[in-house]
Amino acid sequence: MQLTIFKDYHTLSQQAAGEVIALVKHKPDAVLCLASGSTPMLTYRLLAEKALAQKVDFTRCIFIGLDEWVGISPENEGSCAFFFRTHVFNHINFSASRIYLFNALSGNLAQECATMNHVIEKNGGIDLMLVGVGMNGHIGFNEPGTSFELYSHVTQLDETTTSVGQKYFKEATALTQGITVGLKHLLESKKVLLLANGNKKAGIIQKALEGEITDALPACIIRQHTNSIVMIDEEAAGMLV
Ligand code: GLP
Repeated sequence: MQLTIFKDYHTLSQQAAGEVIALVKHKPDAVLCLASGSTPMLTYRLLAEKALAQKVDFTRCIFIGLDEWVGISPENEGSCAFFFRTHVFNHINFSASRIYLFNALSGNLAQECATMNHVIEKNGGIDLMLVGVGMNGHIGFNEPGTSFELYSHVTQLDETTTSVGQKYFKEATALTQGITVGLKHLLESKKVLLLANGNKKAGIIQKALEGEITDALPACIIRQHTNSIVMIDEEAAGMLV
């Protein structure tokens, strides 16, 4: 694991976007597993700008959506699918046939997980995973207590996630379960970028990077990955010893 501290959110996002661009230039059919959420929003805007300026083509890439709220429609503004359409697909030329998102309305979520696992496997694994970190240390919807050995699965969301998650929705929304790519996928990804910015993430970043490695805090798994970069701004680094 490599730790890089940037002076601010913009510089961090520039660097993260640059990492994605560099990979896709080198490997035009890369398998990318990307998070939604507030953290990578600017990364995706800058990625779109760089892709346009440098004529980088994403049409051969595979796009894997990291996670989704179970029972929430892709038309709902708070869904991860809506986020990806708004912040990624409307600006970057991914091929529709190469985009894989969990269908969180499916009556057979186990099948959704199996399909996602199969897509990742048949395409040779994930080349780059770009993730954020939740206020409880989750990655995707791998909540505290999740085994590092799991591939895609359905989870019971914990209280922090269901209350913090309200920020994505226009109105109060009942959130109980999530469907997510697993931590085993993260460990097997060829490269992982973990992004965090702002004072509010300082405590969880300190625990993830300097505390005990335990499944009670999923983000600390990043230290077990040999090709991961933790990219944080000075505010998020504020509690590191
Ligand atoms: C959310 C999502 C994650 C996201 C994380 C941090 O609940 N499930 O994929 O990375 O929590 O979100 P944010 O970047 O908005 O702080």
